[in-house]
Amino acid sequence: MKINKIVCIGAGYVGGPTMAVIADRCPHVDVTVIDMNEVRIAAWNSSSLPVYEPGLAEVVQRARGRNLKFLNHIDGVQALKEADAIFISVNTPTKTHGPGAGKASDLSYVESCARFIAQHVSGQKIVIEKSTMPVRTAELIKEILTHNNSQAKFDILSNPEFLAEGTAIRDLEKPERVLIGGENSEAVQALVDIYAQWVDPRLIITTGLWSAELSKLAANAFLAQRVSSINSMSAVCEKTGANIDEVAKVIGTDSRVGPKFLKASVGFGGSCFKKDVLSLIYICESYALPEVAHYWQQVIEINEWQKKRFAQKIIESVPPHGTVAILGLAFKKETNDFRESASIDIVQHLLQAGLKVISYDPKVNFTEFAKGLQKAENLKSASSIAVAINGVHAVAILTEWPEFASINWQEFAPQLKNCNLIYDGRNIVPVDAPLPPKLNFQRIGVSG
Ligand code: NAD
Ligand code: UGA
Repeated sequence: MKINKIVCIGAGYVGGPTMAVIADRCPHVDVTVIDMNEVRIAAWNSSSLPVYEPGLAEVVQRARGRNLKFLNHIDGVQALKEADAIFISVNTPTKTHGPGAGKASDLSYVESCARFIAQHVSGQKIVIEKSTMPVRTAELIKEILTHNNSQAKFDILSNPEFLAEGTAIRDLEKPERVLIGGENSEAVQALVDIYAQWVDPRLIITTGLWSAELSKLAANAFLAQRVSSINSMSAVCEKTGANIDEVAKVIGTDSRVGPKFLKASVGFGGSCFKKDVLSLIYICESYALPEVAHYWQQVIEINEWQKKRFAQKIIESVPPHGTVAILGLAFKKETNDFRESASIDIVQHLLQAGLKVISYDPKVNFTEFAKGLQKAENLKSASSIAVAINGVHAVAILTEWPEFASINWQEFAPQLKNCNLIYDGRNIVPVDAPLPPKLNFQRIGVSG
């Protein structure tokens, strides 16, 4: 079995960058990315890509028009018919209604992909789960495919993606591991051969299907748990006079723990941690493992609490109807993505408390951000840091954009004359940064 032609359904934060890197690294393989969102496809075909990722534009530039195409899903049918391998890279959000609402993954987009594939293909096809899916979803996909198409032969593989936003291209070009789960060793090998074009084969882990599906959820749950662990400690630090950055340094120097992912923050965000932990919780409940479900539920609870207590401190520091500047809307630096960003909840808490909010973020589309917020009439956008902080009663840093770490606060003393509090929700302002006098400066996990 050999993969010469690939189709990927879903041109989002994963499908777009992942396929661009595959096309870039495998010039002999034809890669077509299809999506039902025509606006997104048009953006992938323009100079203004729908996803901001360092290095992405260069990769797309090299491969697009050579062996990389972006098409709407109707125009992509011919490519689908010809493909040897079809990646499913669509969204798997938390269900909002029906059984499992609020926890289980909504597989309707995945199911519609399976029906779309079944409707159009014949011959032998490798169907690859790239989206994050609950364990045993491959069973469901296979059932839909075979029920709706008796002519084609399908092999299902699970190849979950581990890239992090902001470093997606680096993560794809130099992954710590690639995971491929499957039953048919020939199909598994065909996909291994694709990645082996640029990834050291020793980093390509092959497992059973269910292990691959569960490993992805488990990996995200462990990462989210680490952030909630350090954030829970940040609250203890604030009460006791210990300093979270010092504590994290000590914990992280133990090689069994390691230094990464121990940065206290306003709470984790992003489209995946919360939904994947919730999905795991639902799986545990479905398999009658309430103790395990409860254990993981705490990771979410601490995260919600961290956001709330941060907002509460700001609310307590400003006069009624006062104004707060929010620096950073993205859920982390180097991305325009604000899905599940801590800033959404924090801004909402401030607005609900009757405060006015003025925000600045170098990449996030403010109009999109403000959609869905209540009392959004009291939320405004600023074109720069200087405009955002002018005359406010408090400033909160919610994203670790480098430009916030290097703000010269003393220079802004006149604009900050009404300001009671600068709250660094990312602990990025250097501890020795000169500050205007009589201004209360607070860090996460540091008392005072
Ligand atoms: P996304 O919302 O950015 O993109 C999904 C795309 O799929 C959308 O453009 C949507 O229009 C398209 N789509 C949905 N149903 C379709 C259909 N039937 N036909 C054609 N197109 C369809 O999502 P994303 O962030 O790329 O995430 C995709 C999956 O990857 C999720 O399961 C997520 O958990 C997982 N994942 C995401 C990341 C990340 O950093 N964003 C990292 C690893 C894994
Ligand atoms: C995460 C995982 O890191 C990826 O491996 C995974 O593929 C991806 O989820 C996914 O499945 O979607 P991502 O959400 O893009 O990637 O970004 P992270 O770097 O993991 O950050 C997640 C959140 O945790 C951010 O809000 C970040 O600011 C926060 N965080 C991270 C902290 O608060 N402290 C830390 O020490 C690390």
